[in-house]
Amino acid sequence: MRGKFITLEGMDGAGKSTHIPNIIALLESRGIEVVSTREPGGTALGESLRAILLHEEMHPETETLLMFAARREHIEKVIAPALARGAWVLSDRFTDATYAYQCGGRGVQAEKIIALEQWVQGDLQPDATLLFDVPVEVSVARLINARAPDKFERESESFFTKIRNAYLQRATDHPKRFHVINSNQSLEAVISNVNEVVMAL
Ligand code: TYD
Repeated sequence: MRGKFITLEGMDGAGKSTHIPNIIALLESRGIEVVSTREPGGTALGESLRAILLHEEMHPETETLLMFAARREHIEKVIAPALARGAWVLSDRFTDATYAYQCGGRGVQAEKIIALEQWVQGDLQPDATLLFDVPVEVSVARLINARAPDKFERESESFFTKIRNAYLQRATDHPKRFHVINSNQSLEAVISNVNEVVMAL
């Protein structure tokens, strides 16, 4: 049986990375083989592209194309084979991030992203997406303390407002797939919310 494809999304500073070990442990406790990966990245080529994407300035469409180039490789080498053998794939970001950052944040036309999505993914879509949501002020305050902020983490509050709105719009447009986690609560409360969602997957 094909495995499930789970993605984690949210603005920088929303705290999603904190929850990955716990999500893996929960799924493994159900006897599921979990392949944990990330975007941009997930393959040797993808990680090379990540280093460029996170640190070099470029045209927003170049950024979009490189995200999808990394994604094509990621699907081929990691995601599709894992799902085919019945493992579940947990990816720290996927195409919703391109809609949020490159379309919402940078203004790349949605039609262009839709075309690339169809080209690169065919009918592959996440089965479930956990969106870690916090008010923009909270995310920006957390990023001020980041030690070596990357290109995206140095963006303005107005950029993050666009990212958050774009993510929430994606959640509204795909209500069955998205689970919005209010990350502006105590860590214990967020963990219990995540556990509830993951156990129901
Ligand atoms: P992130 O996942 O936040 O990693 P870390 O926790 O190590 O900082 O960093 C990835 C960055 O890439 C993030 O700022 C969002 C950005 N990104 C896009 O702009 N578009 C995409 O399609 C993807 C996958 C990521």
